[in-house]
Amino acid sequence: MKLVFVGTGYVGLVSGVMLSHIGHDVTCIDTNESKIKSLQKREVPIYEPGLKEYLNKSIDQGNLHFASSFKDVNGKVDAVFICVGTPSKEDGSANLDNVYEASKDAAYEFPEATIVIKSTTPPGTGKKVREMLRAEKLPNEVASNPEFLSEGNAVNDFLYPDRIVIGTQDDKSLGVLEGIYEQFVDAGYNLVKVSITSAEMVKYASNSFLASKIAFVNEVANLCEKTGADIDDVTRGVGMDPRIGPHFLKAGPGFGGSCFPKDILALQHLSHELDEQCPTLEGVIASNEKRSKDLLQKISSRLGGLSGKLIGVLGLTYKAGTDDIRSSPAIKLIHLLIENGAYICAYDPKGQKNAREELNVDFAYDYREAARGADALVILTEWDQFTKLDLKELSGEMNQKIIFDYRNILDPKAFKDAGFAIYQIGKN
Ligand code: UGA
Repeated sequence: MKLVFVGTGYVGLVSGVMLSHIGHDVTCIDTNESKIKSLQKREVPIYEPGLKEYLNKSIDQGNLHFASSFKDVNGKVDAVFICVGTPSKEDGSANLDNVYEASKDAAYEFPEATIVIKSTTPPGTGKKVREMLRAEKLPNEVASNPEFLSEGNAVNDFLYPDRIVIGTQDDKSLGVLEGIYEQFVDAGYNLVKVSITSAEMVKYASNSFLASKIAFVNEVANLCEKTGADIDDVTRGVGMDPRIGPHFLKAGPGFGGSCFPKDILALQHLSHELDEQCPTLEGVIASNEKRSKDLLQKISSRLGGLSGKLIGVLGLTYKAGTDDIRSSPAIKLIHLLIENGAYICAYDPKGQKNAREELNVDFAYDYREAARGADALVILTEWDQFTKLDLKELSGEMNQKIIFDYRNILDPKAFKDAGFAIYQIGKN
């Protein structure tokens, strides 16, 4: 089928590339011409394992094209996927200007195409987009097809989806989306066919629920530290209950990224608009907000204050496997440490370039340099290479042998044996 993707951000690029991989003819459009030129030269602007290989293959097979204007797309288009950003406004609501504008522009250009909203949009948005198109006398139908890819694992998430959710209100769009995902249906994957508004709600409820698991487990971790229980043992025991499940129970520095914090705020804002109290949602937001302050407090009290202390930070991205630092708990905590008088030397294997635009700190070229002369080392992202720190080298580099492992990735015994004080989440 012939598909157009509007927006080559994370969602648009990954899903465009992968849908071209399964045989559709895909053109990815972005108004950012330099980005399109780079993509045409096969330069991938984000770090996502495996994506470049799929992009190269699809371009070679003639299934994937990049353009800066709809005018460059020839022939009848079956669907236009809207993959533009929906950033938080100051009041927490999602800014939908780009969604409306891109949908309208696409509908004028391709009146026969179904407009498929892939951007995360508050329940009710798809319906409003359809009303807007009708007011403009445009005949296009609208559908919602939310994205469940997670950064760093997006290629696998696409190839082996837990479910594909499609929200439609007419048979033609349903047929178009069933056609697009036919191979998955044939292979036995779940296609969840619901209304447009339900599809939008599935996305918000999924992300908010996952965020609530993390916030909850971080609170339990605090209680573990005070009672002497071990959070990893506790979550192992809890997660074996199939009604709970083992996933998303890893305690850490709080949830971040471009999705959870933004989506949960937008759902909260929607609840306020609808005059519906959602105390759980409010609690999750407050709990995650408190998380960085909790960690700051723990570090400060262990170090006897932060003023003038040099802290080596390992990890800047919001999780491993990505170069994305958006709403990263590491960045939040670094700002707090600086406000409280600490000096920071940070290292991240992939996120440093992005972090330089956000942070005015020293950056190291490896973990050893970040540790040099440090009064403490704080691990904030679970990069695999941080699990293999050389204890002898660290001992020689650091001013004080103190480690805060806020991803619980180190073997505490090895560090204690080497004379380090090591503090982890939910353990003592
Ligand atoms: C998330 C969802 O997992 C995807 O399904 C969804 O498609 C995506 O948002 C989106 O809406 O686009 P992502 O933001 O890439 O994906 O990252 P996650 O792996 O979900 O992690 C989010 C945050 O939670 C990270 O800061 C991570 O470190 C934290 N986390 C995750 C924990 O602290 N503990 C866990 O057990 C799991």
